[in-house]
Amino acid sequence: MDCGSYFQTVSQVYESWEIIKRIPKYEEIVGMALFDRMFQIAPEDWSLFPWTREDFKQKNPKFLAFAAKFVRMLDLAVHMLGPDMEVVEEQMYDLGRSHKNYGVLPRHFDLMGQSLLYTLQGLLGSKFTPNTQKAWKNVYGFWSSTMIQGAVGL
Ligand code: HEM
Repeated sequence: MDCGSYFQTVSQVYESWEIIKRIPKYEEIVGMALFDRMFQIAPEDWSLFPWTREDFKQKNPKFLAFAAKFVRMLDLAVHMLGPDMEVVEEQMYDLGRSHKNYGVLPRHFDLMGQSLLYTLQGLLGSKFTPNTQKAWKNVYGFWSSTMIQGAVGL
């Protein structure tokens, strides 16, 4: 990626994420939508998580605490995008290592990516332009490939 397009990618992700963050209780809203989609497309993968479908539907504090942690990590990763990619790379690598212990496999990252894009589209509507979508795909691709490297111990 050249400098100009890298800058555009980061701005598009950053600006669209700022719109999402203005939604009241955005952590819960993003978490509910993301995991709802995730388990529509891969219901067999519920068992990876320490909360049940019922915990999710009833917004059990166990699920909400997890969703908040998850969305805060996304927020942190968005804010760490910038000229020095080594910092975010290290964080995602370490996060990937913890995911190995959770039984997460490379194929799950693809499902998560699809669910994230679907969620962003639902929340941003017409503001989720083709360029914004492309930018998120690039950034998620970078995060997930780094996490997968951490998970397989490369
Ligand atoms: C960009 C992608 C992802 C991010 C930012 C992320 C973030 C997080 C965070 C912050 C935690 C809390 C614990 C920790 O720090 O280790 C966590 C735990 C976990 N994540 Fe992820 N994750 C991602 C991808 C995935 C994928 C693809 C799956 C599988 C479908 C997954 C499944 C889990 C599970 C099972 C836990 C442990 C829950 C627990 O035992 O409390 N994550 N994740």
